[in-house]
Order: sequence, then structure tokens, then C-alpha cells
Amino acid sequence: MEKKVSFGSKFGTIAVVAGSCIGLGNIWRFPYLAGNNGGSAFIIIYILCSLTIAIPIMMSEFVIGRSTGKNAFGAFKVLTPKKRWCLVGLFGILTSFFIFGFYSVVAGWGISFIQTAFTEGFTGRSPAIIHSNFINYINTGWKPTIAALIFIFLTSSIVIGGIERGIERINKVLMPMLAFIIIGLFIYSTSLPGFKEGMDFLLKPDFSKINIGTFLAAIGQSFFSMSLGMGCMVTYGAYIKKETSLPSLALTIGVADLSVAILAGFAIFPGVFTFGIEPTSGPTLVFETLPLVFSMMPGGNIFGIFFFILVFIAAITSSVSMIEPICLFIIQELKTSRVKAVLIISVFVAILSVFCAYSQVEGSSIRIFGQNLFDFLNNTTDKFMLPFGALLIIIFVGWFADKELVRNQITNNGHSFNKGFKIYYTFVRFIIPVVLSLFVLNLLGIIKW
Ligand code: TRP
Repeated sequence: MEKKVSFGSKFGTIAVVAGSCIGLGNIWRFPYLAGNNGGSAFIIIYILCSLTIAIPIMMSEFVIGRSTGKNAFGAFKVLTPKKRWCLVGLFGILTSFFIFGFYSVVAGWGISFIQTAFTEGFTGRSPAIIHSNFINYINTGWKPTIAALIFIFLTSSIVIGGIERGIERINKVLMPMLAFIIIGLFIYSTSLPGFKEGMDFLLKPDFSKINIGTFLAAIGQSFFSMSLGMGCMVTYGAYIKKETSLPSLALTIGVADLSVAILAGFAIFPGVFTFGIEPTSGPTLVFETLPLVFSMMPGGNIFGIFFFILVFIAAITSSVSMIEPICLFIIQELKTSRVKAVLIISVFVAILSVFCAYSQVEGSSIRIFGQNLFDFLNNTTDKFMLPFGALLIIIFVGWFADKELVRNQITNNGHSFNKGFKIYYTFVRFIIPVVLSLFVLNLLGIIKW
């Protein structure tokens, strides 16, 4: 079994946690959700959800992890004699596994697109060709599968290296690169004729577009984007040093995550408007619409190469944070070595992602409840499993964990954030559980707006 490990430095801590949060959620999901939900109106609600709901939940997950130094399952065992709470941890571990299943497939698309950008490029392709290329690619089944398997292999090789020498070391290199690329792409976008229209779409709110669905989409997305509700931050919390202030870490990460999502929107929509493409094209926005934009814009191939490298970096730093919770669970609870744990996980995850990739082939029979496996996992995890997991975690911290233990973690034994604690605790005990319960009841169809 591994001895107690922690992140090496403050920058390393921020890079790792931000690496988990900033991912396909920011670059693939956020732009299409904003596009489908009225642009800026969605963004305002999203910012509100992130600050008032997601950040306190992130702090709470850190509390559970840091106070125990345990994996998401074991942490509950330490904090309460009531056995049932451990199930929350198990549920989270199952959620990680499900998310990884479809995430690795999308990340694999990213790898294939880097290859396309380098070999054939996008210039001069007609919309029909771009569309049919993507569909043909998915329908081969084996191409996305190989790409996903390569991605799983790369992720596992990082996690095998451990926290400081694997995950932290890679994140410290990749996260600054990611920031550099996204700022570069944004600057380039400002030179496109559609820049103003893109800005208006993202900045001028049209409140008539807001309805309850907007709120639901915003909350789900803020959990997905900040890696909450499945114990990922419990696990990373176990590695946070005791001197680190949890509120300021969570705030830094929240702001960084929001900024990248919004920058990604700014980098994407000017091109979309410049070339008269519908901003509401959904999950294929990044993989179908953008290549079209790249095919028409000057320097599109170079933009494309950098963009898909960005997608890949964002994806891999997040995917390590899906494997690590399962890995720490296996290491601590089943008392195995890290290498063995990672190998076991890789095999299971690879099987799931092969099924996911093949479930998208036209006419495939790999379906659950009327959806193909990929859509099923993508929809159930963020619409149900994450909010439900987050609700249980927040109720645990607000009502079942020892108040003094929570206070000591949040204020670092009274050294900082003493005034903020009361507000935090009120949110954790009352406001967030009520909001999330409504959300979950609505999803279960028990209440309808
Ligand atoms: N936050 C990541 C993204 O935006 C995805 C992710 C990583 C995640 N770890 C997670 C989502 C844990 C939910 C739970 O792409």
C-alpha cells in the first residue's frame, strides 16, 4: 500500500485541480450548451450556479478528502460509523467509470482530428464532405475505438506514475500550454469579421430565452465542468497539504474554469458567425462545425491543429482525474499496488469504451433504454448521477459530519476565512440541498415545472 502522499507545491496543486476541471466540459460541452440555450443568458446563470453552488460543493468534497486522507469510499468510513454513507463513495466510483467510458471516445475523436489536421488539413472542404467524413469515421467503429484505446493507454501511463511524479508533473507542463493556446486562439478570433456578432451572442443577454431548462442545464454543466458529485475532489482533497486554504483554492479553480469556458466560447463563436453557421448545432459543434469554419478561414489549418491539440490536452488532464479516484479506492481498500490497480482499471475502462464507440455505429444494437450506450452514459451521468451524488455529499457535510471538523478544514484551524465560514455553512446546510433536491425531484419526474 502507498504511504501518505501529497501534492508537491502550490502551483502543482492548482495545476492538477484545474487540470481536472478544465476539460472537454469547457471546450466541447459548454460552447454547444451556450449555443443551444440562448448564449449570454445561459452564461449569466452558469456563472451564478458556479459561484453559489459549485464552489461550496468543491470545498465540501475537499473537506471530506483532506480530513481523512482517504479515497471517496474509505473517507466516509472514517468520518461516520454509519456504513451506508460509504455507498455514496461507491456510487461516485461507478460514476467515474461511466463518465470515462464516453469521455475517452470524445477524446479519441480529438486525437483523430489532430491527425487529420496534420495530414489532410481542412482547407477547401465543402460542408457536405465535412459532415459525411465525420459520419463515416464514426461508422467505421474501429477508427474511434483505436483512438479511444490510445487515449486510455496515455491516461493510464500518467496515472501509473503516481501523484507527484505522474499527475502533478504532467499537469504542470500541460496546463500552462493550454492557457497559452486558448489565449492565442482567442486573439486570432478577434481579427475575424464575425467577432462583434460572436461577442454580442455571448455578452448581450436575451432574458426571454431563460426558462427552467436553462437552470437545469447550467447546474448540470457546472458540476460536470468542476468535476463534482462523484468524489473526484474528495480524492484530490486527500493530497492537498494542510497549509493550503480550501476556500481560496476552490475560488481560484472556479474562476479559472469559468474563464476557460468563456474564452473557448469567444474563440469559437466569431468563426461560427463569420461563416454563417448555426450556433445551435449541438454536440457536434466542435467536431463538425469547427472543421467547416477552419476550412474557410485564412490560416484555418494551423488554427485547427492548435485547437485539437487544445482539446487533447484538456481531455487528458481531466481523464486522469477520473481514473485516480478508482485507483486510490483499489489501492487503499483492496490493498494492491498502484501498477496493478491501474492495469485492472484500464482493462475494464477499455472494454466499456469499445462498447461506447461501437454503439454509435449506425444501426448498432448496443442500446440501453432506447438510447445508444454513448448517449445513455453522457446523459445519465450529468443529468442524474452527478447532481444526485453532489446532493448526498452536501447533505453529509452539512448534517452528518462533525461541525468542528468542517470548520477546522475550511478555516485551517481558525487561521483564515473565519467570517466566511458562517455563510458557507448556511449554503451547505440549507440553500444548496434545497436547490439540488428540487433539481433531482424534477429529474425523477416527481415534480414538474
Ligand atoms: N471536469 C471535466 C471537464 O470539464 C470532466 C471531469 C473530470 C469530470 N473529472 C470529473 C466530470 C469528475 C465529473 C466528475 O471536462
